[in-house]
Amino acid sequence: MRMYDLIMKKRNGGILSKEEIRFMIEGYTAGSIPDYQMSAMMMAIYFRGMNEEETLQLTMAMAESGDTLDLSAIEGIKVDKHSTGGVGDKTSLALTPMVAACGVKIAKMSGRGLGHTGGTIDKLESFNGFSTGIETRDFIKNVNEIGISIMGQTKDLAPADKLLYALRDVTATVDNMSLIASSIMSKKLAAGADAIVLDVKTGSGAFMKAEEDAFALAKEMLTIGKNAGRSMMAVVSDMDQPLGYAVGNALEVKEAIDTLKGQGPADFTELCMTLGSCMLMAGGVASDYEQAREMLKDVIENGSALEKLADFVEAQGGDRQTVYEPERLPKATGILEVKAQKEGFIRKIICDEVGICSLILGGGRETKESEIDLSVGIVLCRKTGDYVKKGDVLAHIHYNDENKMLACKERLLAAYEIGDEKNTERPVIFGILN
Ligand code: URA
Repeated sequence: MRMYDLIMKKRNGGILSKEEIRFMIEGYTAGSIPDYQMSAMMMAIYFRGMNEEETLQLTMAMAESGDTLDLSAIEGIKVDKHSTGGVGDKTSLALTPMVAACGVKIAKMSGRGLGHTGGTIDKLESFNGFSTGIETRDFIKNVNEIGISIMGQTKDLAPADKLLYALRDVTATVDNMSLIASSIMSKKLAAGADAIVLDVKTGSGAFMKAEEDAFALAKEMLTIGKNAGRSMMAVVSDMDQPLGYAVGNALEVKEAIDTLKGQGPADFTELCMTLGSCMLMAGGVASDYEQAREMLKDVIENGSALEKLADFVEAQGGDRQTVYEPERLPKATGILEVKAQKEGFIRKIICDEVGICSLILGGGRETKESEIDLSVGIVLCRKTGDYVKKGDVLAHIHYNDENKMLACKERLLAAYEIGDEKNTERPVIFGILN
């Protein structure tokens, strides 16, 4: 088999066989197929697309290109959750203890933030002493004993995806449905859960700006997961403005803790209830949506979800008392009020810009090696649809460096669009698929 022939086949609109896809992924991972040939193949796929079977075969080949996690030592159904990402997306921090408190086993691998998007692993490190670099043995032990563990993605999990993603990033071939679906699902399948609940974002701050594209991506990933023998559900949710109010590592942890006490923002709480309900149904502890919502409400009201977060933090070396005293979280030295420059309705808050503001303050990573400042970030006070007078506080900037704060302030003000007419309200949840 020759890579040249496979590129030509796809370029001409042909369908690649399982063997051909394996040859290409194994060769690329081993280094025998060079970047320039794989780039040409990615572009051919970008224009010609892949059918359902090709997408499944590509996913399986990438999932099996490195280590796969064997979770068979954990009793019961293991449920994982994946979000396509966004700004202020602290969902895993609140959702996983809620679901674990209802009796579903959470064995989750998460990533760090890069650029303007945050990562669960960084946020969890806001708990003093917390470690996500735990051994698989301890990961499994924690899930068996307390029902929840989150570890950082190991470098040997789906290495083909790691290589391909970096290549796609620099060859303008990221935004192809089959390539995105196979990239995400290869990592999820390698991570070993029995059931996977997907949170597919739509809106200006999401990969899939248009609602119909988000639904199409969700369907594509559901099909892959089901064909690979996993139980699957997907939620399409809004990412047209930041989720909740807090953007920044420790600030988001505080908001997740508030949510576990029943005092969280309405949009974020609704997303956690919806995803949580799907996870309880996928995990076999609730038979319908209404029962699942009641169970989740109960674990918030009786404090067991908050307790579960404390158990989880302690089991991974962190300070459990911070869950009850969030003032122990890293704190910035200064807080600046950002005030509206004119009166009117907030028509838009450009999501990515708010993420970049947090990055400017030091809360995000420019490169994989950057040190991040866990204490800084932005807490929005007003969101899309609110009416503001000139001088009303739009947001608070938590900062440690004056120059960075000034740059952030300019950018944050520009991210708010204020006008005379109110925009049509967008739902938090666009739909649930299974
Ligand atoms: N996230 C991924 O992991 N892969 C993609 O291709 C896009 C988003």
